[in-house]
Amino acid sequence: MAEKSTELIHSAMITKDPSKLRLKPNLQDYEQSRKNFKWSDADNMVDWFPGGKINMAYNAIDRHAKGKKKDKIALIFDDGQGHVEKFTFGQLGALTSKFANVLKKLGIKRQERVFFFLQRSPELYAGFLGAIKYGAIASPMFPAFGPDAIRDRLLDSGAVALVTDSELKSRVYEVKNLLPELKHMIIVGKDAAAGELSWEKEMAEASDMFDATPMDPEEFSYMLYTSGTTGKPKGVVHAHKDIVQIHLSTNWVLDVHDEDVYWCTADLGWVTGVVYGVIGPWSNGVTQVGLGGRFDPERWFKTIQDYKISVWYTAPTAVRMLMAKGDDIPKKYDLSSLRANYSVGEPLNPEGVRWAMEVFDSKPFHDTWWQTETGSILITNFPEMPIKPGSMGKPLPGVEAAIVDENGNVLPQGEEGALVLRPGWPAMMRQIWNNPAKYNEYFKNGWYYTGDTAQIDKDGYFWYVGRADDVIKTAGERVGPFEVESALIEHEAIVEAGVIGKPDELRGNIIKAFIVLSPGFVDSPELKEEIQKFVKKKLAGHAFPREIEVVKSLPKTRSGKIMRRLLRARELGLPIGDTSTLED
Ligand code: PRX
Repeated sequence: MAEKSTELIHSAMITKDPSKLRLKPNLQDYEQSRKNFKWSDADNMVDWFPGGKINMAYNAIDRHAKGKKKDKIALIFDDGQGHVEKFTFGQLGALTSKFANVLKKLGIKRQERVFFFLQRSPELYAGFLGAIKYGAIASPMFPAFGPDAIRDRLLDSGAVALVTDSELKSRVYEVKNLLPELKHMIIVGKDAAAGELSWEKEMAEASDMFDATPMDPEEFSYMLYTSGTTGKPKGVVHAHKDIVQIHLSTNWVLDVHDEDVYWCTADLGWVTGVVYGVIGPWSNGVTQVGLGGRFDPERWFKTIQDYKISVWYTAPTAVRMLMAKGDDIPKKYDLSSLRANYSVGEPLNPEGVRWAMEVFDSKPFHDTWWQTETGSILITNFPEMPIKPGSMGKPLPGVEAAIVDENGNVLPQGEEGALVLRPGWPAMMRQIWNNPAKYNEYFKNGWYYTGDTAQIDKDGYFWYVGRADDVIKTAGERVGPFEVESALIEHEAIVEAGVIGKPDELRGNIIKAFIVLSPGFVDSPELKEEIQKFVKKKLAGHAFPREIEVVKSLPKTRSGKIMRRLLRARELGLPIGDTSTLED
């Protein structure tokens, strides 16, 4: 479904009547700004310390905590089970300072890695921003991760401290002896054991006064691991300077205004949750809602109604899941507070855009495109701009995007090719942790290669075509086939495994595994189920193969690399292309 878009290019445009927009968009004239904009203009939107120093968390919290918005509600946290807590900017300023002081007491050094393995919770927001305020590199991990995924991240980053809770910590202990650099385990939930620190105790004892550390703009603020085609997940590292673009894009694209109540549904373990579920909205001084618990259509609509959400940022799979439940559920709720909807992570089907027009009283979804590596929305539908359902929109002012052929030559309008960007936007990743070679792979012919293929139409709108590599997008989440294959072959019944993304109506793609069985094992539904559980437990709740097919052998290159392209072509009945490197 993600694959082809030509026919959609002709689908009807959704125009907007400026007089009917409830609030005047922050970005009034896209085309004009695109012509005149310079990144230095955006520098003035954030606060700097003397000598050109800056701190991302200071900009998200402290500048409001010390200013007119001190008593404004920053976070409405609903744990999804009926418990609601509210925090002002002033209170978040105090909590983040307390955590910075905890790190100071522990002797954590500037730019050391502090990780978080927590469900969405006030502690996660406060800890993450407190670590950035302190000058450490903060990194949240998705709470569905299993021991292998946890080990890969903590080991590669050399994390020295981890904040987790009494429920999740057992998964960390399964691999803790492999993590010599992990010195401090801080446990939320009042039952820290010997050798652990209690979050509650440490926070209670810590002072709530801490001056955010003035950082060089190029020093690192947060890192997130993400998947590529080959190898283990890679640590994408971002700088404090990112705040300039995070602030600007939240202001221009998500178009938040002072009176908005904003809700981003992404978990903080993913880049959307970090950038647009913590930093950007708060940098803009906006009240945001954090909802705990699992996806539940009734609760989601109720959240919009009860907190009067006006700006909503979510993902296509969630939209499809809501659509699948039928239109009777949304009818039960008052959704009139919404004024703008946004989506990210995978292609947003035109049906989703149109569904929103009906269910949310003519408020369509605005599709936004970006990546963990880009650190900010880069191609998007702006509030002031007509929407072509199915299109990702146009580049952010200051961003040059193009479609190129294999040699980096720019292709004419309408032709499919690699989606590339001119390097140098402020929120671009600064490093792949410990792996300069991987970082360099992104850059060729003066361009940053996104790994996506796309095309541009005559009006300058970008249309997603697919991935140029084997990375799988399942329910909007990025999964590397290599990681799943590695987990699979650790199962005693499996000798070899090849993993692909298979298009799926609801999830965009599902993970499908082709496996070769070890001698003595026989294909059965029970065995497949056991294998699924095995991967789920090791790797993550979302990264397991929903389909498994037993095969006699896997297509390989002469050098022994599994040709996933062929597995995919066979599965989908596509042409198999060049097989000259095939083993036999
Ligand atoms: O393939 C594109 C897809 O998600 C990839 C980036 O994944 P990740 O780093 O996990 O970040 C996701 C959220 C920022 C891209 O290379 N993708 C993201 N947004 C879109 C998309 N595909 C189609 N349409 C989008 N709007």
